[in-house]
This record gives sequence, C-alpha cells and structure tokens, in this order.
Amino acid sequence: MESELTFILNDQVVHTKTNPATVLLDYIRKNKRLTGTKEVCKEGDCGACAVLLGTKVNDKIIYKTINSCLFPIQKVNSKHVVTIEGLNKEELNLLQYSFVEEGASQCGFCTPGFLISLTGYLLNTTKFDENEAINAIAGNICRCTGYHSILRSLKNINSSFNAISTEILINNKVIPEYFKEIPNLLDKIPIEKTQSNFENTDQFVSGGTDLFVQQPENLLTKKISLIEQIVEPQIKVIDNNLIISGSTTIEELEFYITENKINVKLGKLFKLFASSPIRNSATLAGNIINASPIADFTITLLALNAKIIFSNAYTVEREIYLNQLYKDDFVIPEGTLYASVFTSSIAHGKIVSLDISGARNTQGVIKVLIASDIPGINQVGGIIQDESLLAEKEVHFIGEPIALVIAETEEIAKLACKKITVEFSPLKVITEPREAYKMDSLIMPPKIFESGDISGAWEHCNTIVEGVVESGGQEHLYLETQGAVALPKEAGEIKIISSTQSPTAVQKVTSKVLNLPMNKIEVDVLRLGGAFGGKEDQATHWAVFAAFGAYYCKKPVKLVLSRHDDLYMTGKRHPYSSDFKIGLD
Ligand SMILES: Cc1cc2nc3c(=O)[nH]c(=O)nc-3n(C[C@H](O)[C@H](O)[C@H](O)COP(=O)(O)OP(=O)(O)OC[C@H]3O[C@@H](n4cnc5c(N)ncnc54)[C@H](O)[C@@H]3O)c2cc1C
Ligand code: FES
Ligand code: FES
Repeated sequence: MESELTFILNDQVVHTKTNPATVLLDYIRKNKRLTGTKEVCKEGDCGACAVLLGTKVNDKIIYKTINSCLFPIQKVNSKHVVTIEGLNKEELNLLQYSFVEEGASQCGFCTPGFLISLTGYLLNTTKFDENEAINAIAGNICRCTGYHSILRSLKNINSSFNAISTEILINNKVIPEYFKEIPNLLDKIPIEKTQSNFENTDQFVSGGTDLFVQQPENLLTKKISLIEQIVEPQIKVIDNNLIISGSTTIEELEFYITENKINVKLGKLFKLFASSPIRNSATLAGNIINASPIADFTITLLALNAKIIFSNAYTVEREIYLNQLYKDDFVIPEGTLYASVFTSSIAHGKIVSLDISGARNTQGVIKVLIASDIPGINQVGGIIQDESLLAEKEVHFIGEPIALVIAETEEIAKLACKKITVEFSPLKVITEPREAYKMDSLIMPPKIFESGDISGAWEHCNTIVEGVVESGGQEHLYLETQGAVALPKEAGEIKIISSTQSPTAVQKVTSKVLNLPMNKIEVDVLRLGGAFGGKEDQATHWAVFAAFGAYYCKKPVKLVLSRHDDLYMTGKRHPYSSDFKIGLD
C-alpha cells in the first residue's frame, strides 16, 4: 500500500511514494537521513522527535510542534515540515547559542526537540512569556541537565525580544530566510481533499496519538484513511450550544474557547492534557472513541452533559448523550427489575440447608433463583471449567454466589438477600496452593504444557538455574464496577448489555447456562469504565445472572455490583507462586 505525497521538508519540495502509515520520524531519519530528529520513546512522551508542521491557513502559515514518532506521513501532504536541520542553516541560531551559553545541552540527545518546541512557541506568539515557553517544552524530557540550565537559557531568550513576529525571528536568525518563500512554494502544491475511496478503509486515523502508540506495525499493513479528509475541524455556537466537530484538536478547542471567551469551566484541563505537541494532534473524537478509562475529555464532556452526534459527514445518523455510552447510564426501559446476589460467608464448607422463604416472601421480590433453577449447565468458568454460577452443595470462597434475588428495586433485592439463611458444615480452609497441592485438594487436575524431552534435556546443560518466584495478588480496580442489563426480546432471545472485555465469552456461557442456542443471545458492549483485564472472564458471571433473571421474569433485569460487593465477590489477579528451572547449554 503506497500513496503519493508532496510536501516541503525544510527548504526542499519532496515528492514521494510511500506507505501512508509510515510515521514521519522513520521517513525523516531512514529515508532522508536527517538524524537530528531523535527517536527515544516512540510513544509521544519525550519530545526528542519533535518537528514543526506548517499549514497554510488563508495567507499565513501556522506552525505547530508535533511528535513525528506518532504522525503518519499521509498527514504532511501539502504541508511544511521543519526538522532541526531546517532551523540551523549556517551557524548557531539565537536559541542554540543561548543553550550553549547556559550549559542547557549536555549529552545533547534531547536538545533538538527542545529547540523545535521553543521555535514552535516563538512562531505562535507576539510577546515572550516565560511560563508559556515552559508550557511549550512541557512535552520534552531531558535526563542530564536537571532543567535549571534550560530555564536560564529561556530567561536569556526573554531578554532578547520586545516583540515577536516571523520577520523578527528571521532577522534575529532564529529561523532561516527560506521561511519567507514557503507560502509561495506551498501555493504550488495542490491541497488534496480526497473525498472518495474510503470504502475499503481498515482504520480511520485522526491525530494518531492513540493508534500509533498502540499498533504502529499493524497499521503499516492496513489501508488507513485520514478523518481530516472527511470532516474538517470546526467549532461554532448555535443557540448557546458549543458544536465541536470530532476532528477538532484539543489545542484548537483551547484556542477557540480562550479567543472567544466562551464561558465553559474547563479550568486547567487543557494544560494538564498531555503536552503541547500531543494537544496539537489529538482530537476530541479520538479521545471519546478510544474508550480509554483515562480519557480526560470523555469525563469532562460527561460532566457537562454533552451530546454526541454520530454522522457520516453528510447525514446525522444518531444522537446520544455521552452519559448513555456507559452500561450503568444506559436508559433502561420502564419496569426493569433489579438483581442482587446472596453469597457464602465462609471460605469452605458443605451447604447443609438453604432457606430462601424469607426473601421470597418479601414484598416487591419477584423471584429467588438457586442452582436447581438453572435450565442448562451450572458452569461459568472461562478457560478452565472450574466455577459454578451458583453454589449447590459446596462453597469454595467467601463471597461465592448461592442465590439470586430479583425484585422491583435494587434496595428490595438487597434487603431480601439478607433474609436468606444457610447452614454450612465447615470444611478445612486451605489458602496456600502448595499446601493444597500436597494434600491433593485441587479444584481441577493440574494443566501441564510440555514439549520435547523434559527430563532428558538437563544432562545436556552446562548451567542450571533454579528458584521460586512469588508475585502478590492484585485488585484490578476498574472505576466502573462489574454489571450488566439483560433485556428479553420477542422470540425468546435475550439481549445483554455487559461491561465485558469478552462479549463472545458472555454469549457462549449464557447460552450454555440457559440452554439457549447462541444466536438467541445478543451481547452489546458500550464503553467500559476501565477493566485492566478484570473484565475478561470475571465480567461473565454478572451478565449471566442478569440474563438468568430476565429469562425467568420475562422482564429486563439489571445487576450492577456496588464497590464493596465487587471487591468482595470477584476473583481478581490472584497471587502466584512459581517454581522455575532453566538450563543453558
Ligand atoms: C504522550 C501521550 C499523552 C497523552 N495524554 C493524555 C491525557 O493527558 N489525557 C487524555 O485524555 N488522553 C491522553 N492521551 C491519549 C490521546 O492523545 C487522546 O485520547 C486523543 O484525544 C486521541 O485522539 P486522536 O485524534 O489522536 O486519536 P487516533 O489515535 O487518531 O484515533 C483513536 C481512535 O478513535 C477513532 N477516531 C478518531 N477520530 C474519529 C472520528 N472523528 N470519528 C470516529 N472515530 C474516530 C480512530 O479510528 C481510532 O479508533 C495521550 C497520548 C499520548 C501519546
Ligand atoms: S520519540 Fe519520544 S516523543 Fe517521539
Ligand atoms: S542533555 Fe542529555 S538528555 Fe538532555
């Protein structure tokens, strides 16, 4: 997959045919051998790869600092790219000189990035402000200097200017003369606004600040299309509402709000969002669509009760309030019932008797379900089939579900759970897996992966290292707790809205537990309020519980765990104790 591009690299017009998902940094360093732009993290964190990107807007060129390591080359078409080599034609410029004077460059690896970011700042201001300059280099990391010498050099630069303009910067040799020619040169490059051929797109890219961190190699094998070629960044005010197109960058939004004195209380959020080069690329839609639990604008827009308009750039397809994107915010139909789970209070024991009559007789309770009510197989284990949905004869941990109460309200369901009584015959509690192994008290037989001659291989080894590694347990601590909503449909199907990382697992397990074909179970996932692996198979139980309730009650059933119940009932990343033996020949 290659596409043709024309852009200006420093003072040269470049025509090239290249994979559009190649990041600009690789092109600059590998194809053009301009090695002043450095690669350090390749994740947008260090600023060593910073370059300037000039875009013609009306008659002016607007320069922005960007992280070239996350910038697909397709996005530089018809633009001006400035690397450190393009700033320093014959002699040290004012900024470089100031860095040298103050010892602000030691190993020097970070220095090109700092100088580019500072130049980007100077090109966008009319008066030097030290705090703003510091903000402009907030995305640049230096390991050597401790930053004080860099701050001193900023003070020197401050004293060099009363006012700043492109002309003044050229006269002071901060930027070279050729910058004057760039508007004319760019005029000769047609600005391509491809409106066709999006059909076979594998991946739409906006700023690329998420995509190129997560899957840079993968993107090289895909057909990418730029969202900026479909929808332009645009902000307008209609009827006191701020309408922001998804391709608006965080920086453009900040600029608009500041310039137009829009009364939106976003406080310091803009400056806390990543760094200036990331804000120059990152878009609002990318922030929402990436489904990251730490996406700043998603939660901010949620607090502002913003509405998202999904459109294909020509027609509006759907409008939805942002707060309806999460499972617990899903607007549930009237008459929805609520489920609560009654669990074991002991770690190990036989169930001698179970009395659910107290719960069943509570006003507002619709149904109390136990293991014998399960129409299919009482098994929700993910990879290994070792977990029943509801304990029937024996319990294996505190918090293991025993009964499910479905009631008109969440409060009634919880209250009714308290009226269930169970008599246990306690068994020995073993919390140490090595002890359980010794006593042959394993829930499942061990799973062994082996390849080749394991016992015979050691005699060919020169060195053998053996030991034990202990790793502690870890709570996943996703912000949104586990939960689901299940809605019965007209022909016996059940639709489940689950906060799961594994919708197929939810579908398979529900089908098995309810003895329904898989095509009768539909699983939808809205946005997850975090998961960190804790909603891979751990989310299945609660989705199946909601579906189990909906199956019996023929009404929508919602089950969302409180934080306490989530910590109490779910498994988490358990501790490991691993023996290892490594042989080297
Ligand atoms: C160093 C660094 C620091 C960061 N710091 C923060 C931070 O402080 N706060 C924060 O919230 N985020 C942060 N991020 C994450 C990221 O910058 C944001 O989530 C950003 O808003 C993503 O937007 P993008 O345009 O770059 O998305 P892309 O990477 O281009 O796309 C992300 C996803 O959104 C989809 N998408 C993009 N635009 C649209 C659209 N218009 N319509 C439909 N789908 C679309 C893409 O197809 C893709 O699936 C940081 C990232 C980096 C690399
Ligand atoms: S290499 Fe670190 S930000 Fe690009
Ligand atoms: S001078 Fe060495 S990292 Fe900054």
